[in-house]
Amino acid sequence: MKLFTSVHDVTDINALAAEALQLKQNPYAHQHLGKNKTLGLVFLNPSLRTRMSTQKAALNLGMNVMVLNIDKEGWALELQDGAIMNGGTVEHVREAAAVMGQYVDIIGVRSFPGLKDREEDYSEAIFNKFVQYCGVPVVSLESATRHPLQSLADLVTIQELKKTARPKVVLAWAPHIKALPQAVPNSFAEWMCKADVDFTIAHPEGYELNTDFTDGATITHNLDEALTGADFIYVKNWSAYEPYGKVLPGNEDWMLNNDKLKITNDARVMHCLPVRRNLELSDEILDGPNSVVIHEAGNRVWAAQAVLKQMLEAI
Ligand code: CP
Repeated sequence: MKLFTSVHDVTDINALAAEALQLKQNPYAHQHLGKNKTLGLVFLNPSLRTRMSTQKAALNLGMNVMVLNIDKEGWALELQDGAIMNGGTVEHVREAAAVMGQYVDIIGVRSFPGLKDREEDYSEAIFNKFVQYCGVPVVSLESATRHPLQSLADLVTIQELKKTARPKVVLAWAPHIKALPQAVPNSFAEWMCKADVDFTIAHPEGYELNTDFTDGATITHNLDEALTGADFIYVKNWSAYEPYGKVLPGNEDWMLNNDKLKITNDARVMHCLPVRRNLELSDEILDGPNSVVIHEAGNRVWAAQAVLKQMLEAI
């Protein structure tokens, strides 16, 4: 594997998830692969889980790791082609990415959307410039439209905890005060549409996702109908795709609580984190026996390690 930006870069998602679970049993079995190899992690936006789990995964494989919070620690980056750089930006991404590629063997990049210009965000203009100019394999640490390391960890968690061969998985929209990207729900949807699950997306009217990511999903505006018989509930807020990046008024009653959990099949509750307590997800759910959010975050290590292992094998 030379590129990990979406489910489309993976030949067999079940095999990749199985490899992640094998690595969980035997984390240090492949340290020879990473000897004298360096992973560079480049962040244009904040991160806790992705940063630490991907570093841990690389260390487990015997790699060295360099982290650059380029938004705070690098030169002010110019991202527009053809820019006359007589303003605040100091270095163009063409040089910055190419230079990074001289120092590392694999690069991870995090680049969030601006949520102002849908066409620009969905073209992945910034992320793709790193891919174009760095000259080494690239793993997405979350781009404008997708978060594939999170989605792989989510698939691993479902495979690990499922009690039936084909569980019912529900992606349930939840309230938030800020406009959040569609990257996590887009990505989760496209992975679940390829997984061995019955997949439903529940959201209020107006929060329809881009249909490129939801082909094969059952979509409903009725949360109770979606939750009935659910084995897994993936709780997540996202802003509207149309009007782009907007938070629509109302819908506070979409927050999951124990009453809603009663109509499920004792569902495990997932969330990618960070989560705003008692806005997006209630204390009683997060602190209750059905929450698997910490377990899910732990699986980020094995997901990242499976991807890095396949990249090291291809170098
Ligand atoms: N879920 C996730 O990607 O967390 P961070 O933003 O903290 O990396």
